Amino acid sequence: MDSKRDFTKLRDISREEGQYLLERAHFLKRLRKEGKPYKPLADKSLAMIFEKASTRTRASFEIGMWELGGYAMFLNTTETQIGRGEPVKDTARVLSRYVDAIMIRTYAQSLIEELALWSTVPLINGLSDLYHPCQTLADLLTIEEFKGAFERIKIAYIGDGNNVANSWLEASILFGLDFAIATPEHYEPETALLAEARENGRFTFTHDPFDAVKDADVVYTDVWVSMGQEKEQEERVRVFDSYKIDEKLMKNARKDAIVMHCLPAYRNKEISDEIFEKHEKVIFAQAENRLHCQKALLEWLILRQC
Ligand code: CP
Ligand code: NVA
Repeated sequence: MDSKRDFTKLRDISREEGQYLLERAHFLKRLRKEGKPYKPLADKSLAMIFEKASTRTRASFEIGMWELGGYAMFLNTTETQIGRGEPVKDTARVLSRYVDAIMIRTYAQSLIEELALWSTVPLINGLSDLYHPCQTLADLLTIEEFKGAFERIKIAYIGDGNNVANSWLEASILFGLDFAIATPEHYEPETALLAEARENGRFTFTHDPFDAVKDADVVYTDVWVSMGQEKEQEERVRVFDSYKIDEKLMKNARKDAIVMHCLPAYRNKEISDEIFEKHEKVIFAQAENRLHCQKALLEWLILRQC
């Protein structure tokens, strides 16, 4: 038996494994569309621990596990002993005796890594302050659907250098993407990731959103105020004002550029209502693709143990 694998960040997997997961997600999406049941995870279970709010991540993991024939158990930190200070390493060892995989959404990446270290079953990052790797997998699948491939096009991320931006930087390093990112000063992504991304030669970092979207095929944004940053709301809305995705900014991108948003979206903050509705087909495909990608991920992580 191979040792267990985790998905605490995108680069826990290789480029080849990433390509495999995307191919598998396309396949599982097709099967579902054809109404063909596929239940390889019968008798398998997933614990889902949430310390932050979620709509898509919770729903897609829960339904995904059910569609694959397994069971998903929802745990929130306020109603479990985790919230009362039970050590993470004990929670990891207990849950590992009940379930076949654990998914967690929390604040500190270090907590996810500690959980991964102590659990004997695969650990999945459902979002931390630092990364959102499941989102990036679904984003890549969506770009393949709408643009054919993500290797030969330019992708621009505009806004906060947050968890979503960091996972995109990881994707750009893993797949050698033509990737540009524009954030305000003091809101840059992880410095080490920026340095690594620069090494691939197709990467641009700027504070100017118009520069970043120039000739882009994909324009991506996320909220300006992430979960846990609510106290900074006023300041952030002021600082990010010129980073909104609107008609004016989109004029700098390619004519056939698509706009992506991981959701939830705040209209007329990071994205104008007009642009959001114009690109809603892509944006909601992105949300749907969380389901297909996570099914591929669960199947791979759990069954490779057998
Ligand atoms: N995009 C995303 O992760 O959405 P939720 O916060 O609703 O899970
Ligand atoms: N950056 C956002 C993503 C939400 C899916 C947050 O962390 O709140």
